[in-house]
Amino acid sequence: MKAVIWQGTNKVGVETVPDPTILQATDMIVKVTATAICGSDLHLLDGYIPSMEKGDILGHEFMGEVVEIGPAVNNLKVGDRVVVPFNIACGVCDYCQRGFFSACDNTNPNHRMAEALYGAVSGGGLFGYSHLYGGYAGGQAQYVRVPFADMGGFKIESGLRDEQVLFLTDIFPTGYQAAENCNIIPGRDVVAVFGAGPVGQFAARSAQMLGAARVIVIDRVPERLALAEKAGTETVNYEQVDVQVALREMTGGRGPDHVIDAVGLEAHGHGPGALLDTAQQKLRLTFDRITALRWAIMSCAKGGTVSMPGVYGGLVNEMPMGAAFAKGLIFRMGQTHTHRYIRPLLERIEKGEIDPSFVISHRASLHDAPELYETFRDKKNGCIKVVLDPWGPPSAAD
Ligand SMILES: NC(=O)c1ccc[n+]([C@@H]2O[C@H](COP(=O)([O-])OP(=O)(O)OC[C@H]3O[C@@H](n4cnc5c(N)ncnc54)[C@H](O)[C@@H]3O)[C@@H](O)[C@H]2O)c1
Ligand SMILES: [Zn+2]
Ligand SMILES: [Zn+2]
Repeated sequence: MKAVIWQGTNKVGVETVPDPTILQATDMIVKVTATAICGSDLHLLDGYIPSMEKGDILGHEFMGEVVEIGPAVNNLKVGDRVVVPFNIACGVCDYCQRGFFSACDNTNPNHRMAEALYGAVSGGGLFGYSHLYGGYAGGQAQYVRVPFADMGGFKIESGLRDEQVLFLTDIFPTGYQAAENCNIIPGRDVVAVFGAGPVGQFAARSAQMLGAARVIVIDRVPERLALAEKAGTETVNYEQVDVQVALREMTGGRGPDHVIDAVGLEAHGHGPGALLDTAQQKLRLTFDRITALRWAIMSCAKGGTVSMPGVYGGLVNEMPMGAAFAKGLIFRMGQTHTHRYIRPLLERIEKGEIDPSFVISHRASLHDAPELYETFRDKKNGCIKVVLDPWGPPSAAD
């Protein structure tokens, strides 16, 4: 089959690789009909998430048709159309039972590696997301093996198009969880969202769904800000104004009640903190560039929430802990517990409350993935979200 392969830092290719097979009785094989590139994939492309190996299959946002099931799969049958959450969850461990699906205790065979880096933890397995997260083959491919199929396949029975339900695999639940973590008081709270990428777009719309009085989206990419404005949000371009001053002025001096960091470890920005981050990251003296997080903490109102769907990987410097402490901020973060949200958010899509395909800017064949990874990384050609067809025609470069 054809698959998108990590070939090293800043190198992605499309290669022919063996088809996946059932390895465990609880596995299924899905024929992928649509798959997307995520901001999280960029952290792999750029080499910031450790433990990728040349030859790894990328991709964690995918859906398709069940073509084979193991003998212990009970809830699905061949022919079912499914969306697959990006995290792999067993459904029976203590964490899964309590709804902390991304913390599943049974799906990361490399948990020792995670524990060496992060202490007494082991994040659950993720598709196509490094050996630290289990080394599972990803879904930017024609076929994928889905372990724990009864938990990992959510049947889609309505006539919704792939593009309308594909983002239930990650970015819609991720934006929604980020907004939910803010405990928004409907009709009262102002929510600021740093980052107008796909996750920020869904966080902003989710904050609106949860009743935020106002939502302010911050980025520097004009077409991303324009897309957020279409939903009725206010926007700030952080390259045109001092974002902290702007947010204070827009909120009567208080700051937004809650702030969502939908940027993560590759933040851009300016000011002494940003310069130090860039220099120290090059020298390996810091791991993450935290300008967005710093701005989030500094601008948030007293007692507010700093909700962080943006990914962080390691140690950080110049973290304004004093400000967070002085204001009594609440921090919420982590990989999304995607399984929690798929059914309720699918219902919202079915009711016509939201059509997630609004975020798609580029549709292409899987063969065009190398070029589109670059386009998406560099925010070129108005690129906001890329959806790939694994069965599309070969590119001219092939
Ligand atoms: N927690 C999870 O489970 C989960 C799931 C999916 C994605 N993510 C993470 O969410 C983050 C966003 O993903 P995405 O797909 O939207 O990525 P993206 O790269 O498309 O979007 C990031 C946006 O942030 C903007 N930005 C950069 N620095 C900024 C700053 N200082 N202030 C404001 N905006 C700034 C960029 O211009 C860009 O538009 C990534 O870190 C990704 O890994 C997390
Ligand atoms: Zn993703
Ligand atoms: Zn579990």
